Amino acid sequence: MKSVLFSRFFILLPWILIVIIMLDVDTRRPALPLTPRPYFSPYAVSRGGARVPLRRGSPGRDAAKRNESRPRPHPEPPLPTIYAITPTYSRPVQKAELTRLANTFRQVAQLHWILVEDAVARSELVSRFLARAGLPNTHLHVPTPRRYKRPGLPRATEQRNAGLAWLRQRHQHQRAQPGVLFFADDDNTYSLELFQEMRTTRKVSVWPVGLVGGRRYERPLVENGKVVGWYTGWRADRPFAIDMAGFAVSLQVILSNPKAVFKRRGSQPGMQESDFLKQITTVEELEPKASNCTKVLVWHTRTEKVNLANEPKYLLDTVKIEV
Ligand code: UGA
Ligand code: MN
Repeated sequence: MKSVLFSRFFILLPWILIVIIMLDVDTRRPALPLTPRPYFSPYAVSRGGARVPLRRGSPGRDAAKRNESRPRPHPEPPLPTIYAITPTYSRPVQKAELTRLANTFRQVAQLHWILVEDAVARSELVSRFLARAGLPNTHLHVPTPRRYKRPGLPRATEQRNAGLAWLRQRHQHQRAQPGVLFFADDDNTYSLELFQEMRTTRKVSVWPVGLVGGRRYERPLVENGKVVGWYTGWRADRPFAIDMAGFAVSLQVILSNPKAVFKRRGSQPGMQESDFLKQITTVEELEPKASNCTKVLVWHTRTEKVNLANEPKYLLDTVKIEV
């Protein structure tokens, strides 16, 4: 009797083990992504004091999956994608700048990073960097012609245009999903609130920029919810006296103005923003953000040129390290 029980037990044992393993595999959570998700609170306090999520998706994503079968009372409208076009060029601080930027962008839901290298080819440094950045991205490149690489001339014209061309090409056949574009230079500093503000852009939105134009800040002047002028220390006569970091444009506006680009010819120094905005909007149409343009949520920071005076010419380090 005992031996019969034993033999049954040993016949069943492997099957029991298989079932246990399968159940375990099924319920195991997916592996963590390479880049961990927000380490800070994913909530921001809204004006009324309520906590509103900064990003949709994780950590709430798993919970949403589990509830998939339950009917939702009000399906949420799709979150407009934020397309950030960043021109970038090779220099000692490039990887540091891109690291700061990626660390910010990783906290933002539904952001697509369009990184455009000012170079004849995609560099290995940037390619490797993007592969590990944990962000949806598009990696483009276009070199600035040598004749335009001079002090006093506008920077990154060709790179921003390459980003615009990519966006238009990508959306040429399908009806545009909701989206917002902004130009994110690689050395500026962006608060997370800025992305909440720009996400609701209907056509073209504007906001103050800190540490720019020889002032603590510049801002659009707003009366009764409309932009009526510019607080700026430099050429207030510009139709749009605003830095590249001070506006966002809806994807729809970019697509319905297919010829709007940054211009080299006929563009005076410091007029790039104004020349571009003139092609797609009017001052009356602008949508003021950041509490009627009274809050600074982005800073035109500039990184000091790094001192490499003591780099060795011979007796180099025994290993080659990417910096
Ligand atoms: C100011 C504005 O904030 C920029 O948006 C504008 O492009 C620039 O002036 C201009 O003169 O055209 P600033 O801090 O002086 O900014 O310019 P940078 O930060 O040096 O360059 C703007 C962007 O272009 C950066 O993302 C930078 O990486 C990129 N860049 C700069 C290139 O791609 N190639 C270059 O040769 C220089
Ligand atoms: Mn800059």
